This record gives sequence, C-alpha cells and structure tokens, in this order.
Amino acid sequence: MTSVLPSESSLDGRFDRLIQPDKVHGTLYTDPSIFAEELRRIWFRTWVFVGHESEVPQPNDYVRKKLATQDVIMTRAADGQVHLLINRCAHRGLQVCDDAQGNSSSFRCPYHGWTYRNTGELLGYPYNKGYGGKNQLAGLGMGRVPRVASYQGFVFGSMAEDGPSLIEHLGAAAGEIDRLVGLSPEGTVSLDVGWLAHRTRSNWKFLAENETDGYHPQFVHGSIFGVTGSPIGALYSDASTAVTRALGGGHSENDLRPEFRSFAEPMRWFGTTPDRVPKYVAAMEQAYGEDASRRMIEGAPHVMIFPNLFIAEIQVFNIQPVAVGECTQYATAVQLGGGEELNRRMISQSIGSVGPAGMLLADDTEMYERNQRGVEMLDPEWLDVRRGLGRERTDDAGFTIGAATDETGMRGFWKHYKSLMEA
Ligand code: FES
Ligand code: FE
Repeated sequence: MTSVLPSESSLDGRFDRLIQPDKVHGTLYTDPSIFAEELRRIWFRTWVFVGHESEVPQPNDYVRKKLATQDVIMTRAADGQVHLLINRCAHRGLQVCDDAQGNSSSFRCPYHGWTYRNTGELLGYPYNKGYGGKNQLAGLGMGRVPRVASYQGFVFGSMAEDGPSLIEHLGAAAGEIDRLVGLSPEGTVSLDVGWLAHRTRSNWKFLAENETDGYHPQFVHGSIFGVTGSPIGALYSDASTAVTRALGGGHSENDLRPEFRSFAEPMRWFGTTPDRVPKYVAAMEQAYGEDASRRMIEGAPHVMIFPNLFIAEIQVFNIQPVAVGECTQYATAVQLGGGEELNRRMISQSIGSVGPAGMLLADDTEMYERNQRGVEMLDPEWLDVRRGLGRERTDDAGFTIGAATDETGMRGFWKHYKSLMEA
C-alpha cells in the first residue's frame, strides 16, 4: 500500500497533489483539517446560498437559517432590506433567537435582556448605570454577514468583506436561475412552503458532486423508475442526447433540453400535457407570446451552483456542512408565480421524492452515507473522476460539455475547489 496521508510538513501544493485531472484523494472527505480549511477558504469567503426573499415577505419578518456552521437570522427590516444576522449576543455570547421564524422589529436576549434591532444594532441593555448610562456600548451589536445580495429573490451571503460580486460568482449559472423564473407567467418564484431538513452522515462534497452525476440515476433510482414507469431514467442513459456541462466557477448542469427538444412536446418535462394545465399554458402564452412554447418544451434547469445551491427542476436544495462527515440537506418545492396548476403538484411530488419517506432522496442519501463509510477505508486511496475525459468537447459558448453520464460536472467542481483552496 502506498502512502495514505499527505505529510503535515508540506502543506504547500497539497491540493495540487490531492486533486488531479482524473482522480481525487479520499482524505478530502475525511480529514478534519481540510474541513477547517474549507470553512475558511470556501464557506466563509465565497457566496453561499442561504434562503429566499419570499421566506420573509413582510417588513420585520425573520427566519432562522444556516451559513455553514453559523446560525443566522434572515430578517427583513422596516425599509424592506434583507439582512443576515449572526445569532449570538454581544454580551456573553448567548444564542439570541430561538424561534424558527416570526415577525419582530427587535430581538431580546433571554439571559440579561440586551435588545437588538432586526438590523443588528444594540438598542439597549437593562440597569444601564453599570455601564455608565445609556448608549455607552458603541460598536457592540449582533454579528452580521458582511455582504448580502440576492438574485431573482435567492439570497446569498458572503462572510468576506470584499471579493467578487454575487453576479460575478454566479456567472453562467445566473442564466439557469433565469430559466427557472422564466417558467413563471409572472416572472417570479417563491420558496415559501417550508423546508425539509435531512441530516446526512456524509461530507458535503459527495452531495455537491452527485447533483449533476448523470451516471447514477439508472442504478440508484432504477427501482423507482421501473415501478412508476418514469421516463427520467432514459434521460441519463448511454443513448441520451442530454449533456453534462461545466459552467465555470464550480457550477455544473445536466442539460436535458436536447432530449425535450427532440420530442417537442410542451410540459413533457413536467410529466403532463397542455390540456391538463390549461390556465398555466394560457398565462404563459399571454406573458411570453411565441416564446412560451419553447419555454414549456425545454422545462426547468438541473443545475448545481457552487458550493451549495442545487436546483433540481421543481425542487431547490440548500446544502450546509456541519462537520467533516456530516451535513444537512434542506429541500423545498419551487412555487411559480401564476403557476397554481403546477404548484400543488410540485409540493406533492416533492414530498413523494425528497420528503421523509421520499423515494429519490432516500436512495441518494444511502449512497452518500455509504460513500462516506467507504472512503474512511484507506485503500485504494483515490476516487476516480475520469469518466468521459476522452470525449469532452467545447460548446458554442465555450463551456466544457460531456455526455449525459460523464463526470464533466465533477471535474469542473474540483477545478474551482482547488483554485479556492490554494488561493
Ligand atoms: Fe445576552 Fe447577557 S448573554 S444579555
Ligand atoms: Fe440521485
């Protein structure tokens, strides 16, 4: 057996050794020091998806969220601005807010009664003579995620004071969010029907890599495809015309549009026909004219946005790491503005596929957890990511694409990961 652990004395170039074009090292998923480094260099630096503006629609609404290991409160201030507060009291560090969601212009710490505005400023503290009077603690307040920005209502936070803008971070992936929103006759999506939270004993990267792994569906989900007669499996077969695309910035997609275009049937992507959703079809035609038909044929995106936002056609996932071998996957159903005929079915399909007894996510999660148990074994040391390397090509927009079942998305993920870890 060859050496397993990189020597501590040679951290320089460590990721260059651990991440190679056709293989990645098992310790990337198991080494606590690498996880700590990921928090510093990825999760507390780049843009991380946190939630959606539709979760705090009214002034003073708030909802508890996660940004990696950090407990944050997403608030909407009286002026409509969305903030991400770090849920920690400036006095002695208590968790200030315990409610999952609510409406309040302020938060009061239960320990000694310090009170904060929902933008984070310290409003007051009891028995103020002990501090020399009122307003003596300038500069103290709840922590704030320094940069908060949203795109089509998707709220992202960056713990770095400066760096690339959200738009720069999203790059080509922004167009995939636009595609989703473009399926709403009103041009809006909401993520306000609640999130399922699945605690998963797996490193977060197994999830991020799997989201556009078109090699696994026929095997992991073969039983459910067979029982339901689902056409999804064929989209990820060797004969599929769908492509896997590395969108740059670690983002990737399974682009199923070539398959849907070949059928040219509106709403096939949703498993239905126009006559079963007539109001939606009419509203789309009203909103988009001749382009409505193309939108309804091509359907919704299947895109993984680095590091933690996965749009799976009708569901959105928010992946947050907990520890090196543990993460939480939050899942919710997309709701399209003006898409009432689709929205209820999006909820019931989401419960059926990614709910507690759901038939898709349970199978994926079994793979994630078994993958984690597997990589804790020391030999062989590497995970192979070479599938399709010899048949990749460049599309008209300059992106690397592979076949539906190729590991092109994973290689794009690792390329960006390495650039951040070595920055
Ligand atoms: Fe919050 Fe004392 S710890 S008021
Ligand atoms: Fe899967």
